[in-house]
Amino acid sequence: MKHFTCVQDIGDLSSALQKAKYTKENPFSDQHLGKNKTLMLIFFNSSLRTRLSTQKAGINLGMNVIVLDINQGAWKLETERGVIMDGDKPEHILEAIPVMGAYCDIIGVRSFAQFENKSDDYNELIINQFIQYSGRPVFSMEAATRHPLQSFADLITIEEFKKTARPKVVLTWAPHPKALPQAVPNSFAEWMNATDYEFVITHPEGYELDDKFVGKAIVEYDKEKAYRDADFIYAKNWAAYRDPNYGKILSTDRSWTVDTPKMALTNNAYFMHCLPVRRNMIVTDEVIESPQSIVIPEAANRVVSAQTVLKEILLAL
Ligand code: CP
Repeated sequence: MKHFTCVQDIGDLSSALQKAKYTKENPFSDQHLGKNKTLMLIFFNSSLRTRLSTQKAGINLGMNVIVLDINQGAWKLETERGVIMDGDKPEHILEAIPVMGAYCDIIGVRSFAQFENKSDDYNELIINQFIQYSGRPVFSMEAATRHPLQSFADLITIEEFKKTARPKVVLTWAPHPKALPQAVPNSFAEWMNATDYEFVITHPEGYELDDKFVGKAIVEYDKEKAYRDADFIYAKNWAAYRDPNYGKILSTDRSWTVDTPKMALTNNAYFMHCLPVRRNMIVTDEVIESPQSIVIPEAANRVVSAQTVLKEILLAL
């Protein structure tokens, strides 16, 4: 594997799941692969799970790990070419990226959608510049439109907990006070569409995702109907995608909060969320604290997904 930004980069899903299982059962068996190799993790945005799990994955593989928060201690970066740099950004990303590449063997990048320019976001302006100019394999730690390490961990978790070969998985929008990117739901949809699961997306009108990510999913606006007989409820907020509302909050309707009455409609479904989660906005205390909540094993599997991907990148160096 050269770069990892989407489901296609992982190749055959069943083979990837077998590799993930091996990694989980043998976390320290590949330390020779990372010896004298440096992993650099670049964060343009905050993180708890991605930062810690990817660092841990690199350590498990015997790598040295460098973490840089661009907005805390590094020079502010100009990202547009042609700008007269007389403002508050003293360094251009076109110098910064190859310099970072000179100090490491593999680069992970977190760079969220900024909701300033939809085309920049959906063309993945930042991570694609890392791919173009770093000279190193690059993997996404959540980019503008996808969060593939999260989605891979989600898939691993569903495979571990599913009770039928073809579970019904429901992605539900839920309310949130701030405008959040579509990366997690886009990516989750992309990975679910690569399985043979029954996959349903439910959200209020106006929150339609890009058709390219919705794919073959069933879109059901009636949330109670969507929840019925579900085996997994995957909750996430996202801001509107469609123009002219790109990046806007259209609803904070708390009837979409995942609660016990709606979970009672399901086939005793497991509750999933990528975290961090706002309790009693996205999900009630009662649901997230219930035995059906698998948010902690889901987060723990972030080490497994990152380590499986990093191993494939190391093997291809
Ligand atoms: N789920 C996830 O990516 O968590 P962080 O934002 O804390 O990394």
